Amino acid sequence: MTDSVTIFEVGPRDGLQNEKTEIATKDKIKLVDLLSQTGLRKIEVTSFVSTKWVPQMADAAQVMAGIQRRADVDYAVLTPNLRGFEGAVAADASEVAIFASASEGFSQNNINCSIAESLERFAPVAKAARDAGIPVRGYVSCIAECPYDGATKPADVAKVAKALAAMGCYEISLGDTIGRATPDQIDAMLTAVLEVVPATMLAGHFHDTSGRAIDNIDVSLAHGLRCFDSSVAGLGGCPYAPGAAGNIATETVLRHLTAQGFETGIDPNLFSQAVEFAATLRTSK
Ligand code: HMG
Ligand code: MG
Repeated sequence: MTDSVTIFEVGPRDGLQNEKTEIATKDKIKLVDLLSQTGLRKIEVTSFVSTKWVPQMADAAQVMAGIQRRADVDYAVLTPNLRGFEGAVAADASEVAIFASASEGFSQNNINCSIAESLERFAPVAKAARDAGIPVRGYVSCIAECPYDGATKPADVAKVAKALAAMGCYEISLGDTIGRATPDQIDAMLTAVLEVVPATMLAGHFHDTSGRAIDNIDVSLAHGLRCFDSSVAGLGGCPYAPGAAGNIATETVLRHLTAQGFETGIDPNLFSQAVEFAATLRTSK
């Protein structure tokens, strides 16, 4: 049987949240619609976050209302608190994501609270989602390096991943937020996390600042991970992680996985149309 890998497309959210100029709502919708036709099953569309913090995502409700949904695609959104969750429900999101950090500095700078406070804030979101039957994904940022605190201890990543799993997250996405992790760091981090969360519940989320994202995906594959986040045309970064480049490009991951014999279900020709359009939206370098 062919081994399959899920690609979780995060370009419309992780990519476009970081563009310096305003992207028209209609273009965001067009990008999601192009991606929907490629065979992807998971698309992170937008964030229901404070518009003061991330003005690029201020049109979250309009984007969700404008996309043409396919029954076989899940449309995910980020929800930092109950207010965001209510927005996600009103927008009929297929799933929501809560996002924590393994480092205190990034937690403070990204969501304005400590790690412990963030977990307290996420618990009612996870419960509300459970009650509403909406799947919840969890993120752990700064799994190897933090732009504010330096190197992250693997045990700190494991602790947050375990807490998110205990809240009922169906999957924990491990984020190399600033794209500086080495394969050795990812190996050590995964060894610690896999003691508390199984590989079937983990995803890799690698930004590609240092050009090591593919190596880090390979290390993750060797540890049994079969879901990776990536961004069409490599769009993106994080507004609260200075210097971070975009996620590894989905088309690069696709080529790499296909060459290794993994099945992704994505049509490369249809995907290249989305890449072409996404590239026209890129305004940041
Ligand atoms: P805060 O300032 O501590 O909280 O922000 P607040 O409750 O005082 O809210 C501030 C203002 O935002 C208030 O407005 C709220 O009403 C409003 P005001 O009263 O001043 O006019 N507000 C909201 N508006 C819309 N939707 C909401 C919402 N909540 C409050 N849900 C907060 C705390 C968490 C809200 C803020 O820090 C925030 O929104 N942060 C989000 C930052 C973000 O989106 N970062 C990028 C995504 S994370 C990422 O990219 C990493 C990832 O890719 C993985 C990786 O790479 O590692 C996932
Ligand atoms: Mg990210």
